[in-house]
Amino acid sequence: MKKNYLIPLLFGAVLLLAACNKDADFKYYHYSDEDYALLSQYLDLPDLPYNYAIQSPVLFGNVQVKPPDPDLATLGRVLFYDKHLSKDGTISCASCHQQEFAFGDNKAVSEGVFQRQGDRNSIALMSVASFASNYGTDLNGPGGKRFFWDNRAETAVEQSIGSMTNPKEMNMTMQEIVAAVKAQPYYEPLFRQAFDNPEITQDNVTAAIAEFVNSIGSLNSRFDIALDHNRKAGKFDPASFPFDDFSPLENKGKALFMLNCSNCHGTDMVNAPFMPSLNGSALFLSDGASNGLDELPADAGIGGFTGLQFEMGTFKTPSLRNVGVSAPYMHDGRFATLEEVIDHYSTGIKPHVNLNTILKNQDGTPKRMNFTDDDKKALVAFLHTLTDETVLNDVKFSNPFKY
Ligand code: HEC
Ligand code: HEC
Repeated sequence: MKKNYLIPLLFGAVLLLAACNKDADFKYYHYSDEDYALLSQYLDLPDLPYNYAIQSPVLFGNVQVKPPDPDLATLGRVLFYDKHLSKDGTISCASCHQQEFAFGDNKAVSEGVFQRQGDRNSIALMSVASFASNYGTDLNGPGGKRFFWDNRAETAVEQSIGSMTNPKEMNMTMQEIVAAVKAQPYYEPLFRQAFDNPEITQDNVTAAIAEFVNSIGSLNSRFDIALDHNRKAGKFDPASFPFDDFSPLENKGKALFMLNCSNCHGTDMVNAPFMPSLNGSALFLSDGASNGLDELPADAGIGGFTGLQFEMGTFKTPSLRNVGVSAPYMHDGRFATLEEVIDHYSTGIKPHVNLNTILKNQDGTPKRMNFTDDDKKALVAFLHTLTDETVLNDVKFSNPFKY
């Protein structure tokens, strides 16, 4: 008797499951045994892909981040670490964007294929997703904050093409990139998993890399945790309230930072304020500035790209997240330590024609912040609270190659 009930019940359950499947767009992630065996010859990948959604205790404010697709991000991770994608087989994205340095490197200027010296300091990548609503990333469409020190790339896709084809970086044509990807046996199953149409094309390659890069969100620093605690206690503005979780020295540094630096670098390190171009031009909502490194800059920076006089010698204002591990500093890596950076702002600002008004006195001469030794220690202590250990250690961002 009981069996008679069981059959329609089971049938119902199967129907229900099928319906749920469809509704939730449920996807089975497991690779086939054959695929997984092939992948495992080369790669150390989990059978079930990692979750690439960005984790953070802070309220995101206006930062809207679409959760990255785990299969696409997994493919992107492999491409990011794959040296086959460079002319001499020695360089991958990760050569210049190393996890331990918050996806920057520790050289003044990066070194590409054939040991060619680059022109600029590698940019730590954790800011890409952190700024997703501002950046013109592919998660949010073009039109936001741009990439590179001179803002020359609008999207993460455009940016990655720039890196792969740069003669001082990977030095490939996009046709060579596609051919190099097709030549590796592990990509066929990874593309099948990531795309409905798994053909290996330039667009698919760059979409996957962008997905991985966009998933590197760094929002779990001590600063974020303290900010979250404050916000839960109703104290929203990080500039107005000391953090209960900070030492007196860190709070002193925070206060100095909010007063002297946050106009350009942001108060919550997520939403860097936009700096409308000096003449109010709507052409670029540039977040760039001159912070007075040189009287006559050797590198035209944003102006070199836009051709606009008032942007000559200005550079993207970088995110300071993980700045404690991303030395050396500035577009040319001229400062080896945070102490040197603080000394620059304290007494070293040069009278550049496009020096940002925030760093000028009323008579136009460069400002002297004249920090005391204690001030300097406090600022450095504060900057170290911006380090996010989770991003530096999370296996889902690490090198997947077995060799
Ligand atoms: C040879 C070293 C090197 C390689 C290889 C390299 N990069 Fe970069 N990357 C840099 C440097 C240097 C910059 C800053 C360059 C500039 O602004 O002109 C940069 C900038 C970036 C930025 C801009 C970040 C920002 O906030 O503006 C992103 C994103 C990026 N790289 C991702 C990648 C990806 C993805 C790859 C692989 C396809 C890659 N890079 C390969 C050195 C490298
Ligand atoms: C007028 C805007 C402005 C102000 C104010 C400002 N900065 Fe900057 N900061 C910049 C710009 C622009 C750069 C990049 C300059 C370059 O590389 O040419 C930068 C670079 C940096 C860097 C290097 C980051 C890296 O990844 O290389 C640090 C650290 C830094 N600033 C800290 C500070 C501190 C601390 C203060 C306050 C004492 C401050 N900044 C005030 C605009 C500003």
